[in-house]
Amino acid sequence: MNISIIGSGYVGLVTGACFAELGNKVICVDNDEAKVALLKKGIIPIYEPGLSELIKNNVGKKRLIFSSSIKDAVKNSEVIFIAVGTPSLPHGEADLTGIENVAQNIALNMTGYRLIVEKSTVPVETGEWVKKTISTYVKRNIKFDVASNPEFLKEGSAINDFMHPDRIVIGVESNKARDLLVSLYKPLNAPIVVTNIKSAEIIKHSSNAFLATKISFINAISKICDKVGADVKEVAQGMGLDKRIGPSFLNAGAGYGGSCFPKDLDAFINISEKMGYDFNLLKAVKEINEDQREFIFQKIKKSLWIVKGKTVAVLGLSFKPNTDDIRSAPSIDIIKRLQEEGAKIHVYDPQSIEKAKAVLDKVHFCKDPYEACKGAECLLVITEWNEFKELDFIKVKKLLKRPLIVDGRNIYEPQKLEKIGFTYVGIGRGKS
Ligand SMILES: NC(=O)c1ccc[n+]([C@@H]2O[C@H](COP(=O)([O-])OP(=O)(O)OC[C@H]3O[C@@H](n4cnc5c(N)ncnc54)[C@H](O)[C@@H]3O)[C@@H](O)[C@H]2O)c1
Repeated sequence: MNISIIGSGYVGLVTGACFAELGNKVICVDNDEAKVALLKKGIIPIYEPGLSELIKNNVGKKRLIFSSSIKDAVKNSEVIFIAVGTPSLPHGEADLTGIENVAQNIALNMTGYRLIVEKSTVPVETGEWVKKTISTYVKRNIKFDVASNPEFLKEGSAINDFMHPDRIVIGVESNKARDLLVSLYKPLNAPIVVTNIKSAEIIKHSSNAFLATKISFINAISKICDKVGADVKEVAQGMGLDKRIGPSFLNAGAGYGGSCFPKDLDAFINISEKMGYDFNLLKAVKEINEDQREFIFQKIKKSLWIVKGKTVAVLGLSFKPNTDDIRSAPSIDIIKRLQEEGAKIHVYDPQSIEKAKAVLDKVHFCKDPYEACKGAECLLVITEWNEFKELDFIKVKKLLKRPLIVDGRNIYEPQKLEKIGFTYVGIGRGKS
C-alpha cells in the first residue's frame, strides 16, 4: 500500500519504518524542515533501539522516504496517518492545532478517495472534528473516511511493540476504512479490535489512565509500607501474582513521566469535565504522582540533614530506560528541587545528557556513573537503566564521600548493599 505518516517523531518514525518493513511504500512527513533534512542524510534525531537500522534498511530498499510536503504525501498515498504531537495547554486541554492544521492541508490537497487515520492520542470527539474540517476544506465532492487507530507502543521497545502488539484498535465508520486498515495490519497476526471512532479514542485515554492509576496506587501503598516497616516489593509481588491484577506497572518509585501519561491524564480529566463528569479518581492519581518527586527529595533531606553545599550523584535522566526522552521526567523536577535547596549535582545518563543540557543549569554532566559518584554524599538512582543494576559497589563506596544510596526505583537489594556498608533508602522498603 502507499501510505503517509504526517509527523515524524517517536510514533511517526517508528510507524513509518515498521510499515515500510512490512512491504508498504511510506512517506514520512514533518513540518520541521531541519528534522527532515537530517532524516534525508540518514541522521535519526531520536534514540530508539533498532530504529536507525530499520530506517536505513528501508530507505535503501526505496520503501521509505522523508518529505516536508504534505501535498506530495497526500497525492501519493491512499492511507494517511496523522502522528503529530498533541501537547497539553496550560489547563490540561490537549492542543489540537497540529491535528487541525494537518487535516486542513490534507483536505486542500486531496485528489481522490483518502483514508485519514488518527494515530496521535486525542480526546474523544476529535475524529468528528477532523471529519468536519476535511469536509469544510476539501475542494470538490471527493469521498474520504476518517478512522482512529491509537498507538500503544512504548519508547525503548517501540519497534517490538509495533511489530508484536497485544492488540490493534481500529475505530471506523465504513467497511472500506475497516478493510483497508485490517489488510494493512494483517501481516502482524495480532488481535484486531474494531470499534466506532469514539470508542477507539476512549480506549487509548482509558488505557493510559488505567496504567497511571496502577503506578500511583502502588506508590500510595509504598508510603504505608515505609511507615510500618513493610516492603512494597513483596507486597507488589503478592498482589501481582493474582491474575486479575497482574504484576506489570506495580513498581513503586519516582512515579511516571514522559510525553504521554502526564499529558494524556490531563487531557482525559479535561475532556471528562467538558462532558460533565468530574474525574476525581484521575485527579488523585496525578496528585500522588506529583507528590512522589517531593517524597524522594524529602528522603534525601532526611538522610543528609543539611542539603546545602552537598553533592548528590544522580543516575538517570530519561523518564524510563532505553530512551533519551526527558519530557516530564521526574529527574528534572528532583534535580531542580535539590538545587533549590543548595545541592550540587553530578549527573550521568547513557542517552539523555545532550537533551538535558537544554533544561538543566549548573549541573556537572559525567561520562559514567563512577565519575558522578566521585566526592558525592548521596547516590540517587532515578531511572532504572540496566547498567545501574550492575555497578561495582566496592568502587562506588570508595568514590562516595558518604556511603548513602537513595534508590528511587527499588532496583537494589537492601541487605546486599547494607552488607558492604551502605546506608540504603528505597521507596516503601520499610526505611523511611
Ligand atoms: N511517544 C510515545 O511513546 C507515544 C506512544 C503512543 C502515542 N503517542 C502519541 O502520538 C503522538 C505523537 O507523539 P510523539 O511522541 O511521536 O511526538 P513527537 O513530538 O516526538 O513528534 C511529533 C512530530 O510531529 C511534527 N509536527 C507537529 N506539527 C506538525 C504539522 N502541522 N505538520 C507536520 N508535522 C508536524 C513535529 O515536528 C514532530 O516531529 C502524540 O499524540 C502522542 O501522545 C506517543
